[in-house]
Amino acid sequence: MAVHFPMSAAFKLDLTHRPRRLRRNATVRSLVEETVLRPADFIAPLFVVDGKGAPEAIASMPGVLRYNVADLVKECRALAKLGVPAVALFPKLDKKFKNDTGTAALDEDALILRAVRAVKKALPELVVMTDIALDPYTTHGHDGVLTADGGDVANDATVEILTKMAVLHAGAGVDFVAPSDMMDGRIGAIRQALDAAGNTQTSIMAYSAKFASAYYGPFRDAVGSAAAAGTRGLDKRTYQLNPANRREALIEVALDEAEGADVLMVKPAGAYLDIIREVREATKKPVAAYQVSGEYAQIMAASQLGWLDLAKTRHESLLAIKRAGADMILTYFAKEMAAELR
Ligand code: PBG
Repeated sequence: MAVHFPMSAAFKLDLTHRPRRLRRNATVRSLVEETVLRPADFIAPLFVVDGKGAPEAIASMPGVLRYNVADLVKECRALAKLGVPAVALFPKLDKKFKNDTGTAALDEDALILRAVRAVKKALPELVVMTDIALDPYTTHGHDGVLTADGGDVANDATVEILTKMAVLHAGAGVDFVAPSDMMDGRIGAIRQALDAAGNTQTSIMAYSAKFASAYYGPFRDAVGSAAAAGTRGLDKRTYQLNPANRREALIEVALDEAEGADVLMVKPAGAYLDIIREVREATKKPVAAYQVSGEYAQIMAASQLGWLDLAKTRHESLLAIKRAGADMILTYFAKEMAAELR
């Protein structure tokens, strides 16, 4: 049985406010647009491998490749041309370079250092960031060294290694070191170590509110650190934040700021927009957000199935992150977005 609405030509609301007036057409809408994405908002995370092989695909991150150093430089040049101001480099090491304590992280000839030198030599203006954490270097995939009984990640021993790693990376020419380990006190220790070594101009982007997230799965495939999802019953929840906690995230951000972080990061981004907003309001420092591998994978998978429109969905996902308060966004969509926005 069809239901008909009663309609009367005489019916008229006496409205003072008709917000739809400002949505009437594209030009009016553009006048009142509050948030605009631009290529300079993005930091492109890039994976690097040793050797001279062709770029390697990552099954759970379609479209993302691992590059050898020469191809990495080419990719960086293409990004710079499109107006992307920064890259964040992540090494994928051969198993033979990994051990329980991640000693290859302090190798003077480490892949990541060679990659940084090559990129900075070719593109001195491009901002280069590197992760400071041991997960690419440890067989167990944790971000630090384990305690004697193997039951936890040892805080202070890990921080000591990270300070040395940060100084090595600064020496290779990175503009930002990005400690992603979530050990207590590491920002202050790294700042001191950098300054003592004369690297007063090396900035720190702190992974401050980094949650123990299931959304990191594809990244762990990309760098081969997936073991830490549960080695010896130990996952990353003794150092990364509980996704249930908001106040605790703000404590971490306040500590990193007090210890000297130049930029404060929230990670993941899309499921943590409330945290981005709160951090934005709690600090005057720049706020970064990381749209992580699982966020990328979700959008790619649904669009490959024909269930979501790729271009529109990625744009909206990033717009939301910026609207929440992020000044810069790490995203695997950086290149496509920059190309589209130009
Ligand atoms: C590790 C690190 C991780 C990511 C960046 N640095 C994963 C983890 O903590 O296990 C995740 C990035 C992503 O998922 O895109 N220090």
